[in-house]
Amino acid sequence: MHLVDIDDLTSAELHAVLDEADRLRAAHEAGEPNTPLPDRTLAMLFEKPSTRTRVSFETGMTQLGGHALFLGPDDIHLGQGEPLRDTARVLSRYADFLMARVFDHTDVVELAEFATVPVINGLSDAAHPCQTLGDLLTIRDQFGTLDVSVAWVGDGNNVCQSLVLGAAMTDLELTVATPQGYGIDDGVRKRAVGLDSPPEETTDPEAAVADADVVYTDVWVSMGQEDEREEKLRAFEGFQVTTDLLGDRQLMHCLPAHRGEEVTNAVMEGDHLAWDQAENRMHAQKGLLVWLAEQTAR
Ligand code: CP
Ligand code: NVA
Repeated sequence: MHLVDIDDLTSAELHAVLDEADRLRAAHEAGEPNTPLPDRTLAMLFEKPSTRTRVSFETGMTQLGGHALFLGPDDIHLGQGEPLRDTARVLSRYADFLMARVFDHTDVVELAEFATVPVINGLSDAAHPCQTLGDLLTIRDQFGTLDVSVAWVGDGNNVCQSLVLGAAMTDLELTVATPQGYGIDDGVRKRAVGLDSPPEETTDPEAAVADADVVYTDVWVSMGQEDEREEKLRAFEGFQVTTDLLGDRQLMHCLPAHRGEEVTNAVMEGDHLAWDQAENRMHAQKGLLVWLAEQTAR
């Protein structure tokens, strides 16, 4: 069982992970010791920087009684010629779970193919399922239901694409507003259609937010796209989340935020859900790790 993208889970499994996350969060907040993963190790491969993913997984494993290993680009042989599949095979002999943040989505697919322990995608160019878990937990917590209307305003890449699939697997109503040419991939759209719930898609941010409870945005220039910066800043003109566009809706942002680009400083300094989202990454991933351990009982 791997989490390369959110639709590796069934809808029932997704809800089970969220329920496990809620139980673990309640125990954590009550100060109850809860260490169901003693002696378990999570190996974390990072090809790009991370604040939330790295720290939430590492602290999450500590809280569960286990251990997490940070393996950056210069720490192992992966970057110096050892094939990915060999890394997957060898790390599986030591660790109980692998988490990988990679540039190319096919790399996390290959890791999952050759690993003999669960592989978790910690962000690729195409998907960010751990973010979707934390986002769904945040929405359910805030509104008491997933039957909430969310307007995505921004780039239709990794974070958006996993949210599209997460919405298709739940009651979440999602409208995606992107500039022309920056929408979700056809393959993701087809998978959402296969789940009987494709998102509404538009190039008009105002129309997208009209009936929304939540406005969700992400950076315009993702990690690895720095060469496209000027072109993207031009393409995304008019997509900035301002106090006017947001109105009295809730803001979500996966973070990091690039103030002055996808969101204004005033919006980021106001009330919003982004800090809860960041915290919920940890609770959601703890739920995922415990749930995965139950599926792959040693
Ligand atoms: N949202 C998210 O994945 O943040 P990091 O890049 O800091 O991990
Ligand atoms: N779309 C962003 C998300 C960061 C969490 C990126 O890929 O850089």
